[in-house]
Amino acid sequence: MVQILENPLRVGLQQERTPEPLILVIFGASGDLTARKLVPAIYHLKQQRRLPAELTIVGVARRPWSHDYFRQQMREGIEQFSDGIGAEPLWENFEQGLFYCAADMDNPDDYQKLNALLTEIDQKRGTRGNRVFYLAVAPKFFPEAINQLGTAGMIKDALKTRLVIEKPFGRDLASCQELNQVVQRVCNESQVYRIDHYLGKETVQNLLVLRFANAIFEPLWNRQFVDHIQITVAETVGVEDRAGYYESSGALRDMLQNHLMQLFCLTAMEPPNTMDADSLRNEKVKVIQSTRLSDSRDLTFSGIRAQYGVGAIKGKPVPAYRTEPNVNPESTVPTYVAMKFFVDNWRWQGVPFYLRTGKRMPKKVSEIAIQFRDVPLTLFQSAAKQVSPNILALRIQPNEGIALRFEAKMPGADLRSRSVEMDFGYGKTFGVEGSDSYERLLLDCMLGDQTLFTRGDEVEAAWKVVTPALSVWDQPSDPTLIPQYQAGSWGPLEADIMLNRDGRQWRRL
Ligand code: BG6
Repeated sequence: MVQILENPLRVGLQQERTPEPLILVIFGASGDLTARKLVPAIYHLKQQRRLPAELTIVGVARRPWSHDYFRQQMREGIEQFSDGIGAEPLWENFEQGLFYCAADMDNPDDYQKLNALLTEIDQKRGTRGNRVFYLAVAPKFFPEAINQLGTAGMIKDALKTRLVIEKPFGRDLASCQELNQVVQRVCNESQVYRIDHYLGKETVQNLLVLRFANAIFEPLWNRQFVDHIQITVAETVGVEDRAGYYESSGALRDMLQNHLMQLFCLTAMEPPNTMDADSLRNEKVKVIQSTRLSDSRDLTFSGIRAQYGVGAIKGKPVPAYRTEPNVNPESTVPTYVAMKFFVDNWRWQGVPFYLRTGKRMPKKVSEIAIQFRDVPLTLFQSAAKQVSPNILALRIQPNEGIALRFEAKMPGADLRSRSVEMDFGYGKTFGVEGSDSYERLLLDCMLGDQTLFTRGDEVEAAWKVVTPALSVWDQPSDPTLIPQYQAGSWGPLEADIMLNRDGRQWRRL
């Protein structure tokens, strides 16, 4: 059982507040995530004056870097991956709060050394013993780092220390449960921030506002009016230089079990009583616990996996997954998965949720589409063969917004209808693009707000849903049996067949 401790720093999703002075300790400081996302996000928060002057970052990694070399690397990261340094005096002020500690993750002496550095910084910079430990390391190092932090007594103060854990949280239900036990042995659930950057996306949060700040959608949001729901996260990139990680993960573990599952939860859950972290997360857990693969015995009806073959993206030829650098030429790891879920509750009984994600698709696009039932009787001729159903499409990225498709009369003497769209564009309406996910999530964590982070029982429940597919796909299988799709296409034929069998089609985005 996950124990929940009341945290006085915790508040709902909201207004501008500034965190307490603290030290952000990043394990994996020499890695890509730190230079590409984390430090640029913190710097941008600093530019927006959202951080206390005392905020300090300590990078931890094995390489024997100096403080100055770390500062230089972070500066290059900010210049390369964000809007740049801006005013030089601001950077000079920021870099005074950057420190580096070379350490081996499994060496207890190194944790003592780190602890001593943190205590010294507390005295010099007034960070008052407040710490956020961010594990931006390969998942296999999570248990070691957490245990060592526990043994060194560095996360025992539940009110002053927090732990951020990157995804993937486990690689199946058993390993997720084990990792939760490791975490629970050394700290309290109220200290733990399991990060899923999709929850930091502005339009993902807007889904909550759309559903629960408007009176007109919620009455339709159920089996009486909804025919089915499609959730798509398509990417044009391939495996890039991440084969080492991806070969042990694949699309189900890398994307569907976490990012798509979060989109699913926010779409399908019941309204929470308040926007308090636990009210929201209780509802997410409840909906995942009533979710299952539509057919767990025969995956051809409920789960399709595939790999990209050769093809072209935006006119440029790209190689097949199995010929990418460091990928096993006989790999059976999926780069595409599609699944059909049912939710066994009063709201959704019998309504299919189709989820799909893939690399090397024609476009980078993420959306949730709610397709409503057909009209009971067709009274008008339509420009298409038949009247199209209404669709409410929530565009997560790019071109963030919401579109409602409905029928309208075509101009002219005939009474003929055609599908049209009412469209709300986030950027156009508000004149700004949403903030970066990591910025939002790092700030929330520093403020002690767990609303947009996944709870231990929630990740376990998410693994349970996909376990029937994992237990089949993790078995050694004949590589020739893994469906292939052309890079730059919308995925394998098998996934189309899965929907066609239900008399439906994937949306062409
Ligand atoms: C990451 C996955 O979590 O999300 C990557 O590991 C994927 O494989 C990325 O490319 C997609 O994120 P976004 O924000 O670009 O949609």
